Amino acid sequence: LEKIGVLTSGGDAPGMNAAIRAVTRAAIAKKLKVVGIRHGYQGMIDGDFVPLRARDVSGILHRGGTVLKTARSAEFRTEEGREKAYQNLKKEGIDACVVIGGDGSFTGALVFSQDYDIPFVGIPGTIDNDMYGTDYTIGYDTALNTVVEAVDKIRHTAASHDRIFFIEVMGREAGLLALSSGIAVGAEAILIPEAKRLEIELDQFLKKGYKEKDRSGIVIVAEGGETGRVIKIAKAVEENYPNLDVRVSILGHIQRGGKPSARDRIAATKMGVAAVEALLDDQKSIMIALVKNFAIDHVPFKKAVKLNHAIDEDLVQIQSLINI
Ligand code: F6P
Repeated sequence: LEKIGVLTSGGDAPGMNAAIRAVTRAAIAKKLKVVGIRHGYQGMIDGDFVPLRARDVSGILHRGGTVLKTARSAEFRTEEGREKAYQNLKKEGIDACVVIGGDGSFTGALVFSQDYDIPFVGIPGTIDNDMYGTDYTIGYDTALNTVVEAVDKIRHTAASHDRIFFIEVMGREAGLLALSSGIAVGAEAILIPEAKRLEIELDQFLKKGYKEKDRSGIVIVAEGGETGRVIKIAKAVEENYPNLDVRVSILGHIQRGGKPSARDRIAATKMGVAAVEALLDDQKSIMIALVKNFAIDHVPFKKAVKLNHAIDEDLVQIQSLINI
């Protein structure tokens, strides 16, 4: 192993830069050369490469987004696209890659590895925290704190007007971000795809809220794979409870920005180093994971992309218990 490529792919997440920095510095410390691949897999196809030396990754640790840029490449899904990517990697002398991303990014790496002899190791980077086999993905903690800060602000205006706010939180099909942020803001109800029974509790809350004066509320709604789902839900509630003053807020891409939290920076740095070590150890097609109090683990891509990350059932029960 002499030269490795590093890329970010799929939706960006705060902390990706910290991971790029850690991969670059760890590789250089271990006498490897590093090439940054810009714009995800599309950059592989276009030969959009940039050499990375230790000082090239200075001053990025604390910045949100990804300095390598990212993309969701349709061309990489085609055989022709992957062949072009392979030829470019060969020409550049890249003999292994670290890909920072989520589900789609690891599926891409897995398909590529079936035909070509360049090993890939993945680092989970997504605000959704939806990868199986890891307790944690880079960006999740920052996004969680962003949601909490935003909802705390909405709570002020909700209380002043005795309104009920339905707030949509990202996460694709997964409700982890919604559940955790809901607990952190003390939401009156939390709607997530993994625990339909919480919908009944929303109904119970609304019935109570309908009778009581001076009552405002925060309902956190996971987007559940359909951005804007919250609008339908809020409309139905408005029709059933005409006396309630209902408002909707979709937090949107604010959840993907901002400087990474300390936890995200540490996770990214730890996993960045572990990814380089895994490649040097001849590992391939595995995702670096953090389990049991932030210990490193390896999970085959095959498992990471196939199974769902279960939600924390304890949190669901806690929500039901204390929401009286
Ligand atoms: O996977 C990260 C994520 O922010 C999801 O939570 C959300 O559903 C999706 O990406 C939004 O994608 P886009 O950036 O393409 O709008």
